[in-house]
Amino acid sequence: MDQLIIEGGRPLRGGVRVSGSKNAALPILIATLLTDEPCVIDNVPVLLRDLRTTFRLLESLGKRVEISGGQVRVSAHGSLKTQAPYEIVKQMRASVLAAGPLLARFGLVRVPIPGGCAIGLRPIDIHLKGFKALGAREIADHGDIILSAARLKAGRVKFKFPSVGATQHIMMAAAAVEGLTVVENAAREPEINDLAGFLERLGAKVKGAGTSRVEIRGRRTLGGATHSVIPDRIEAGTFLLAGAAATGRLTVIGAEAAHLRAVTAKMRAAGAKIEESVGSMTVTMTGRPKPVSIATAPYPGFPTDLQAPWLAWMCLAKGRSRVAETVFENRFLHAAELARMGARIAVSGGTAIIDGVESLSGAPIMASDIRAGAALIVAALAAKGRTTISRVYHIDRGYERVEKKLRGAGARARRVTA
Ligand code: EPZ
Repeated sequence: MDQLIIEGGRPLRGGVRVSGSKNAALPILIATLLTDEPCVIDNVPVLLRDLRTTFRLLESLGKRVEISGGQVRVSAHGSLKTQAPYEIVKQMRASVLAAGPLLARFGLVRVPIPGGCAIGLRPIDIHLKGFKALGAREIADHGDIILSAARLKAGRVKFKFPSVGATQHIMMAAAAVEGLTVVENAAREPEINDLAGFLERLGAKVKGAGTSRVEIRGRRTLGGATHSVIPDRIEAGTFLLAGAAATGRLTVIGAEAAHLRAVTAKMRAAGAKIEESVGSMTVTMTGRPKPVSIATAPYPGFPTDLQAPWLAWMCLAKGRSRVAETVFENRFLHAAELARMGARIAVSGGTAIIDGVESLSGAPIMASDIRAGAALIVAALAAKGRTTISRVYHIDRGYERVEKKLRGAGARARRVTA
């Protein structure tokens, strides 16, 4: 069990490079199940635990996966299976996205129902309702869901909430179904656009990705493709917030400013200077931030995945701020850990009220999910003294060698195996 040890209170200076987007790479890799032709995906954050799990998922379903640097080649390796193993789905709920492509191609799929996780219940009812609208039948059986449809039909799907996963899932399946499928109240996250680009390269036609109405014109047989994954906006946002909390001047290389508008607007309001250029963003900050409240929302709103790192920064604000979490029902587990560092946070329902303190102090603390872990890193970099973060495996699901990247910007951060 690894731990991260961070000696805080040192300004960050220099540059840190973002990896390819985890949440774009996962569905794109799973979408290779739509074709028997080889696909080559570049800029994949291959060191992440969730990517390793995705490779195992693809292999367990019958694909061959070859990794070379950040490039991944997925090709056929015998015939595909239509049953995903529980061992893999329980480690990464996005594995459930394999169901759609397999259902569209083979008319039958069996996948374990993913359980809840530290941030919420996370049901898949919106996904299932979407497949029913396209003609699938669903049976729950011993913890699995069996979806069947002699032939999935193109059609109209309207979501009650713009779920990112459900949007990706229906788009993937629709890509392999002849005719026009329309998704209404679709999610608009940049990862949706990236998947749309990949599906187009496979041979489907996709219009409206990035808006709340996406049209997919599918084809029974799709080809191979090459694709490069977009930069990780959540990793980039985490580094911007780390740079602001630790103070100093930090350039986030590879960050796409257009994907972070909601975050940078709030960071500027709190007193950070942010410069944007093509392919990088630089944050400069001196002293404590002004208190600025946020409420998370689907894109283009403030991302729930940056709520925890934002809250960590606001622990140091000169006054009271509020953080409202509207996307997940239980995403404040970091608050208790931050309190161990001297933060003053009161959580009630979906809202946290933060009374900023002059400084945080290093402490032994524990990560509970990827972004809660990121929040602890942000706090540790700003805190006085040594912080020891345990359960680092959560952080490793979403951040590639984070301690090494931060060291390159002057942080004292190292990993030990306890
Ligand atoms: C994606 O999860 C991301 N994961 C999450 O990132 C991210 O937090 C989330 O989108 C929101 O931006 C990946 O892309 C792999 P949703 P997803 O379906 O697709 C409810 C991270 O830290 N809901 O938009 O699962 C759900 O319970 C992770 O990198 C239903 O009720 O998110 C949640 O409250 C964590 N029924 C809300 O909608 C459904 O059928 C948003 O979920 C589906 C979702």
